[in-house]
Amino acid sequence: MYQLLKPLLFQFDPENVHYFVTRNLKRFNRFPGGASLSKAIWGTDDKRLEREVFGLKFKNPVGLAAGFDKNAELISEMGNLGFGFIEVGTVTPLPQPGNPKPRMFRLPADAALINRMGFNNLGVDVAAERIAAYRKSLKPGQQALIVGGNIGKNKVTPNEDAVSDYIKCFDRLFDVVDYFVVNVSSPNTPGLRELQEKEPLMNLLNTLQQRNNKDGVSRPILLKIAPDLTNEQLNDIADIVKQTSIAGIIATNTTISRESLTSQHKGETGGLSGKPLTKRSTEVIAYLHKASGGAFPIIGVGGIHSAEDAMEKLAAGASLVQLYTGFIYEGPGLIGRINKRILQS
Ligand SMILES: Cc1cc2nc3c(=O)[nH]c(=O)nc-3n(C[C@H](O)[C@H](O)[C@H](O)COP(=O)(O)O)c2cc1C
Repeated sequence: MYQLLKPLLFQFDPENVHYFVTRNLKRFNRFPGGASLSKAIWGTDDKRLEREVFGLKFKNPVGLAAGFDKNAELISEMGNLGFGFIEVGTVTPLPQPGNPKPRMFRLPADAALINRMGFNNLGVDVAAERIAAYRKSLKPGQQALIVGGNIGKNKVTPNEDAVSDYIKCFDRLFDVVDYFVVNVSSPNTPGLRELQEKEPLMNLLNTLQQRNNKDGVSRPILLKIAPDLTNEQLNDIADIVKQTSIAGIIATNTTISRESLTSQHKGETGGLSGKPLTKRSTEVIAYLHKASGGAFPIIGVGGIHSAEDAMEKLAAGASLVQLYTGFIYEGPGLIGRINKRILQS
C-alpha cells in the first residue's frame, strides 16, 4: 500500500509530508477499530522476538530511531505499526524552532536523506507530559512499549554549560522514560560533536550517572555516536563506556561524509542518512563490538532498508536495531519483514 502512495508523497516537500502523514496516522488510529486494524496489518506478535537488553524487556528488536517523533506524539501509533520500541526526541530543555526551512532533503537516486533540522522541538516539559499521558492511557494489563528519551542541549547554550542542559532533560524525563540516550553526535547543532571528545564526554556521563538513582531506581544511559569517528576515537568510546558504566551505545547518527552521491541535493549541508550510511554504521558496530569484547549492548542504526541490512547489523554485534530513512523509503512493511526474517534465522 505504502509503495503505491510513495510516488505521490515524494512529489511534495519532505517535512510537510512528514506532518501530513503523521497527522493522518493519528486520525486513523483514533477512528473506531483503526488501532486494531493497524496492529492486524502491520504488527508481528511473537514471543520469540522478545529481547532482554540492559535490563529492559523489548517486544521485538526493531525500534523507531530518534528524530521521527521529536515531541512524543506518536508512541502508540508507532507501536501499532509494529515497532518494538520508540525513541523520542532529541529534546532540549527549552522549546526551539530549529534551522530555517527547507532543512530536510530527499536524495531518491541514493535512497538517502540530508537533514539539518537543528533539534526543532517543543521542549522537555511537553515531551515528559505526553509520555506520562501515553502511560496513563494504557488499559489495565496492557504492556507499555519501551520508550527511550534522547536528550540534547539548546542551540543557545554554550558548550561550557552543556552539562546543565543534559541534567535538566535527564531529571525531567527520569520518571517517564525507560532508557536515556545522550546525543552528542548530531551535526546540526554548532559545536555539539566536540562533546564527543574524551574529557567533556567523561564529565557529562559521570555527572548523569551520579544523578542516576531515584529511590533505588536507575535508568540505562546510552551514548549515541557519529559514524565519522576514527578507530582511535572508537577505542576511546569503548573505554569511556567501561569507565562510566553506562549501559551501551547507539551506533550511528547521520554522517557528514558525502562519498559517491549522485542526487540533486547532495551539496546540502547537514547529516546524511539512508543507504550511503549502511556499510559505515555496520563497520562501527563491528569495530566497537570487537574492541570491547562484546562488553556492552549496541543498538544498530544507519541505512537499514531491508531485512538483510538489519541481519547484518545484528551479526556485527547489535542487540537491537532502529530505523528512520529506511522507514521513509520502504514504509511500515519493513518492520514486519525484519521481524519475520529474524524469526526464520
Ligand atoms: C530528519 C532526521 C532527523 C533526525 N533527528 C535526530 C535527532 O533529533 N536526534 C538523533 O539522535 N538522531 C536524529 N536523526 C538520526 C537518526 O536517528 C539515525 O541515527 C540516522 O538517520 C541513521 O539512520 P537511518 O539511515 O535509518 O536514517 C535524524 C535523522 C533524520 C533523517
